[in-house]
Amino acid sequence: MIRFCNGKADFVLVAVSGLFVSGCTGVQSALDPRSSQASKIAVLWWVMLAIGTLIFLGVIALTAAAVTKRGPEGGLSPNHNRNLVLAGGVIIPVVVLTGLLIYSVLISRAITTEPPNFPVTVEIIGHQWWWEINYLDSDGTHIARTANEIHIPVGVPVRFILKSADVIHSFWVPNLHGKTDLIPGQINHSWFQAEAPGRFRGQCAEFCGLQHALMAFWVTVESLDEFEAWIARQREAAIEPTTATAIQGRDIFLSTSCVNCHTIRGTHANAAIGPDLTHVASRQTLGAGTLPNTRNQLEQWVRDPQRIKFGVLMPPSELDEDSFRAVIDYLESLK
Ligand code: CUA
Repeated sequence: MIRFCNGKADFVLVAVSGLFVSGCTGVQSALDPRSSQASKIAVLWWVMLAIGTLIFLGVIALTAAAVTKRGPEGGLSPNHNRNLVLAGGVIIPVVVLTGLLIYSVLISRAITTEPPNFPVTVEIIGHQWWWEINYLDSDGTHIARTANEIHIPVGVPVRFILKSADVIHSFWVPNLHGKTDLIPGQINHSWFQAEAPGRFRGQCAEFCGLQHALMAFWVTVESLDEFEAWIARQREAAIEPTTATAIQGRDIFLSTSCVNCHTIRGTHANAAIGPDLTHVASRQTLGAGTLPNTRNQLEQWVRDPQRIKFGVLMPPSELDEDSFRAVIDYLESLK
């Protein structure tokens, strides 16, 4: 048990919490900022932590003084008491809180003020429990659709139009910006400009049902050339399968209930209940960041998604083994 009055234990506690904070780097951390907005949010956090720590230490010191120091008649003098209450209970809180309020309002304004134009606009629609990602051109026309994976060019402001298909979700990429909710019947906006290439994890930040925790996505920040090559490929219709089993798999896919929920552009599958599968094999994860997109995991997902992510709309596969493998071959060909 840690004894809080023990100076040595206090020191160990502070050192250990320091280690925890220094560990807050990586692909999903607001303390490892990679955009100017995230940097401002991180500075705000450090300023608040520093002021909070000073106040905490001050209160501890005053408490220690109150229990140890004695006035002339064995208690604190009335004057001393009044001044402490006035300074510690009114003046200092008013000054500190007003300062922090003004600072946080200024930061909030700085991170939401939009640049004059956005070379890239991405519409994001939250679904239970995955992310529909649509790239729009300057007049708002959809030019490419994918799921659970956002690519953006480095050093370019990107606008996000946020909508929901069902309940409230929240779009959050801690390394790049704060949270913005996706609210049914309302359109929200956010934007950020990533300052360094990398892959960053985003997470739904509003409880949205059973699988809220498994509603993740990845943001790939890459060079403009890499981004343009990626979006050009995402705009294309699905690749025609070439092997006998993949062709058989496509025919099975297109003649079963798969087409009631999914789109594969270039075929007659054009439903929008589940993710667009036109280039599913080019994605890095399955089930909204739940599994790595490997053959083995794809088989497990299609065979029984309920076992992996109970409550998703996709039912278990009812295909015989040969048909099942053919469908997996086809999905694997959709690069
Ligand atoms: Cu969507 Cu939580």
